[in-house]
Amino acid sequence: MPTVFNSIPEIRNALKTNREKLGPEGIIGFVPTMGALHRGHAALFEAAAAECDLVVVSIFVNPTQFAPHEDLDKYPRTLEADLELCEQFGADLVFHPSALEVYPPDFQSYVEVEGITNSLEGEHRPTHFRGVTTVVLKLFNMVPADRAYFGQKDYQQQLVIRRMVKDLNIPVEIVTVPTWRDPDGLALSSRNKYLSTDERTRALVLSQVLNSTSAQLQQGEQDIQKLITEGLVQITEAGLKPDYFSIADAETLEKLCEPCQKMVLLVAAQAGTTRLIDNMTVELSE
Ligand code: PAF
Repeated sequence: MPTVFNSIPEIRNALKTNREKLGPEGIIGFVPTMGALHRGHAALFEAAAAECDLVVVSIFVNPTQFAPHEDLDKYPRTLEADLELCEQFGADLVFHPSALEVYPPDFQSYVEVEGITNSLEGEHRPTHFRGVTTVVLKLFNMVPADRAYFGQKDYQQQLVIRRMVKDLNIPVEIVTVPTWRDPDGLALSSRNKYLSTDERTRALVLSQVLNSTSAQLQQGEQDIQKLITEGLVQITEAGLKPDYFSIADAETLEKLCEPCQKMVLLVAAQAGTTRLIDNMTVELSE
């Protein structure tokens, strides 16, 4: 099993000792997670293990990225199984702090990325990204690594983190790892655990809409508004409640009126009481 550290001085010390052992060429990879780990997280650990000399995983359900009405209390906590998955897929050290360790009672500082956080998830979860960027910057300071790995599943999140790293000159390289899907197309998410069998079947519409929209764009469809309307109708007819279906510039997330070379299709919808997100990038040949 990987060694587990609960306090900030302990993990800092462990990183310092390992850095000394690895020498100046050694590469430390870091995968921040909220636990409830699945094969998608394992893909992040594998990517980190393939490129780095030491892989550190953090497991911390971050309260500041949940709004009061969201699922913080019922968010799955599965530490034993998480540690086994860490072991199986190449994590060397695990940082598992308490909420008090990360947010002591006198805590008063937050990190806010503007612009790119205003749309999509930011519009539907107005305090979410402030919580994400705050905890990710804190984790980068607690676990000073060379590379940090994030899933493409949270497409806007990885762009927001890239923006923060660039704007605040944080010395870490961000690596984005492709979304892991079940064979029937459902993107893996810790929240899939909440879905009933029927909701899970209905949720397949999300990857189907992304695939069919991508195919139509590749075939030269120009009418973005028509594609969006059709996608929203399909999602609704499958029994999900869409928050958004958007076709945007893959780097800026600006909504498009006509196709451009590098696009991203982003969708969020409610299946019963579970909110799901998914996305797909589309690159048109010049
Ligand atoms: O993607 C996640 O699991 C979380 O948003 C992260 C990056 C670990 C921050 O809490």
